Amino acid sequence: MSVKDCKIIELPKISDPRGNLTFVEGGQHIPFDIKRVYYLYDVPGGAERGAHGHKKLQQLIIAMSGSFDVVLDDGFEKKSFHMNRSYYGLYVSPMMWRDITNVSSGAVCMVLASDYYHEADYYRDYNAFLCDSRGVNK
Ligand code: TYD
Repeated sequence: MSVKDCKIIELPKISDPRGNLTFVEGGQHIPFDIKRVYYLYDVPGGAERGAHGHKKLQQLIIAMSGSFDVVLDDGFEKKSFHMNRSYYGLYVSPMMWRDITNVSSGAVCMVLASDYYHEADYYRDYNAFLCDSRGVNK
């Protein structure tokens, strides 16, 4: 997998004077079925989240409120995405190291995930990730 497989997906947006509505359908707008949703919130200024990779998990990251940067790294190349609209989702493929930085005050980062939480799917050590990704991300 390469950072080139990771991209911003523009989600449907139903504009309405009463407020906008966006929806996400697993397998329709994103290339996986959604098994889990989690979100980061009340992130203190200066804190960084992420700093891990996943072996098989696919994810869609959405800034539900506020803004933050997601830096993706496939072991060869890094790419940064500024997230600040709730109708944009960042598709993150498997075998991607990711950092979430510059989280604005009040930001909510929602993640739609292709599988349940399995600690065995994580890379917590960057060097272990690099070692495997340089074998896989060809
Ligand atoms: P983690 O994914 O390490 O967050 P970050 O990399 O952003 O700091 O998760 C933090 C803790 O929460 C860790 O102990 C695992 C736990 N956790 C769950 O139990 N279920 C989940 O779905 C997630 C995402 C994390």
